Amino acid sequence: MKLLIMGPPGAGKGTQAEVLVKELAITHISTGDMFRAAIKEGTEMGKKAKEYMDKGELVPDAVVVGMVKDRLSQPDCAKGFLLDGFPRTLAQAEALDETLDSMGIVLDGVINIAVPRDKLMARLTGRRVCRGCGASYHVLFNPPQVEGKCNSCGGELYQRSDDNEEAVANRLDVYEAQTQPLIDYYAAKGLLKNINGDQDIKQVLADILASLKK
Ligand code: AP5
Ligand code: ZN
Repeated sequence: MKLLIMGPPGAGKGTQAEVLVKELAITHISTGDMFRAAIKEGTEMGKKAKEYMDKGELVPDAVVVGMVKDRLSQPDCAKGFLLDGFPRTLAQAEALDETLDSMGIVLDGVINIAVPRDKLMARLTGRRVCRGCGASYHVLFNPPQVEGKCNSCGGELYQRSDDNEEAVANRLDVYEAQTQPLIDYYAAKGLLKNINGDQDIKQVLADILASLKK
């Protein structure tokens, strides 16, 4: 399956993607994770991206589009993929359409996880992420079995540098201004699967899987 997963920061895209890609045996492509990997490696692109990310701004379209195009042409995407955090602007969505067309790929669906804005701040400021495998936890809503350690790989948990109140508030504004309009874009194509993300993590997953069978 070839899928997109959308939703505001903190909607649970990463949490659901981690399980979905295993369930569906497809490749997870998260642009946020790709930028964080580039920052860790200390590449020039990573250094540039960090300036935008720490403020909660979007990295320029040209940089993201080029990175995703390269990634989609890699062999592990042939079995199917879940794009997480991309596209985020109309220009990115149009560039993705063009790229997929040129590769003869048709999208099977766009999962849109909706959560009221007032719930998102608490989700993000309480999030902890595994340094080893990138899995997301929450100090209250999804705590690890051992404090500070990842359940799956034992890696150390840390707080993302853009998960502070100021950056989160900006990320939410940027989402509403630039990314939310894509809901109509994909609805018009008949691809949108609307999911209530304001429920238990397992229920959200069950709803996503059910929506993909329709
Ligand atoms: P990115 O990494 O994509 O961040 P984001 O979109 O802000 O999304 P998050 O990762 O914050 O949230 P999520 O929905 O994955 O939530 P999660 O599952 O972790 O992007 C970061 C930055 O990179 C951007 O700001 C931008 O600068 C740049 N960037 C990336 N892509 C770009 C692009 N295409 N163009 C330009 N720039 C780009 O869950 C959040 C928390 O809630 C966790 O603690 C989790 O445990 C908890 N939780 C999850 N589900 C539930 C639930 N059902 N109930 C209660 N708690 C839950
Ligand atoms: Zn881990």
